[in-house]
Amino acid sequence: MAIRDILPDNVSGHVMELGCGWGHLIPTLREKYPDKQIKAWERSPIPAIYTQVVYGIEVKRKDFFAADFSNAELVVCYLFPGAMRRFATEIIPELPKGCWVVTHTFSLSGREPVQVIKADDLYKTPVYLYRVQ
Ligand SMILES: C[S@@+](CC[C@H](N)C(=O)[O-])C[C@H]1O[C@@H](n2cnc3c(N)ncnc32)[C@H](O)[C@@H]1O
Repeated sequence: MAIRDILPDNVSGHVMELGCGWGHLIPTLREKYPDKQIKAWERSPIPAIYTQVVYGIEVKRKDFFAADFSNAELVVCYLFPGAMRRFATEIIPELPKGCWVVTHTFSLSGREPVQVIKADDLYKTPVYLYRVQ
């Protein structure tokens, strides 16, 4: 199954990718949400500049833990276990009720996903969909 298939339809608020790196997920987000401006964050300067130039989106070259999540309706992230733990304790409580969260590879510990798919890559990487209650 493709990551696109787990992304929710009809998102009206902000679509954010935390830690966009070299922008591998940006084409999928743009295909799914052609009318939305994707809000991407990446603190490593070279990948951030690359993603900004290649995909023509604004990438905030800052720590996403300082982001404003008040209008978020979908937050996508592919991080690492330490950042996922901080994400769970520091960002999830800031997200509006009903906000969707898609995590690539690593799940959110102690939370029940709405859906889990195996991505159609070589490793059948898990991708999780959560909804903030
Ligand atoms: C595992 S990589 C994933 C990159 C990209 N999303 C992809 O699909 O290939 C995680 C990225 O998150 C970035 N990152 C981690 N913590 C961050 C933070 N607090 N603020 C901004 N970027 C961060 C890292 O620099 C890295 O590029």
